[in-house]
Amino acid sequence: MRFDRLIAGAAALGAGALLYGALVEAYRLRTERRTLRLPRWPARLDGYRVAVIADAHIRDRASIEMTQEAVALALAEDPDLVLIPGDTIAYWKRGLLDMVEEAYAGLASMSGRILAVPGNHDYFGGDAAWLEPVFNRLGIRLLQNSCHRQDGVNWVGVDSEVAGRADPYGAIMQSDPADPIVVLWHEPDMVDRLPRGPELMVSGHSHGGQFTTPWGWAPATSHLGSRYLRGFYRRTPVPLYVSKGVGTTGPPARLFCPAEVSILTLRPA
Ligand SMILES: [Fe+2]
Repeated sequence: MRFDRLIAGAAALGAGALLYGALVEAYRLRTERRTLRLPRWPARLDGYRVAVIADAHIRDRASIEMTQEAVALALAEDPDLVLIPGDTIAYWKRGLLDMVEEAYAGLASMSGRILAVPGNHDYFGGDAAWLEPVFNRLGIRLLQNSCHRQDGVNWVGVDSEVAGRADPYGAIMQSDPADPIVVLWHEPDMVDRLPRGPELMVSGHSHGGQFTTPWGWAPATSHLGSRYLRGFYRRTPVPLYVSKGVGTTGPPARLFCPAEVSILTLRPA
């Protein structure tokens, strides 16, 4: 085969994959149920279940509907707590708060049991704190380098590193050392700079690579979202779960990397 035909064939294959990813796979959402065995997770909390809705990237009708579907899938699992590890929005624009309220409205039934942290996109063209009026109405607590105690767990929310707002030490210092610590931090690669001690870190940001080969290699990854792309990592300084998330960034396409609502059952190792 001539070299130019090979190039043309590869380009056609790439374009086809992008088209399939944009029209089909970007809108395939599934519930990813995982049991995480955690050293030092207390027996009294054996079986505690959290739902993770990451990276909604709300910006238009399609992203609102995907997020509504994600909320419905999460609620169907009757979790103990819902975690939102950042990038609720794609970027700030007029009407965005109404879009967020419409997308997350179903979560109001879990009011007071939903915790969120900012992602880097929540600062694109604005400030993550602008989400608070809507979050307050829905009972979502936005953690910005702070700790919220619930069900005998320190839920520590660290602000976005990419946005230059992270203070993990200041946040962890607020926790009660008698109880386990779960860290919510948007950028997964930051686990390598997290002090040892927390039982688990939950992240998003990477979108699982979003566009990958069948064996999981991602040609384009995000800053601080490339080392730990998806799933559960036991041997990181702190055990880490990275959700593939709900939305997309860049080309609105996914390949071999369907969007997920993560349902994590936490158990002692
Ligand atoms: Fe992000």
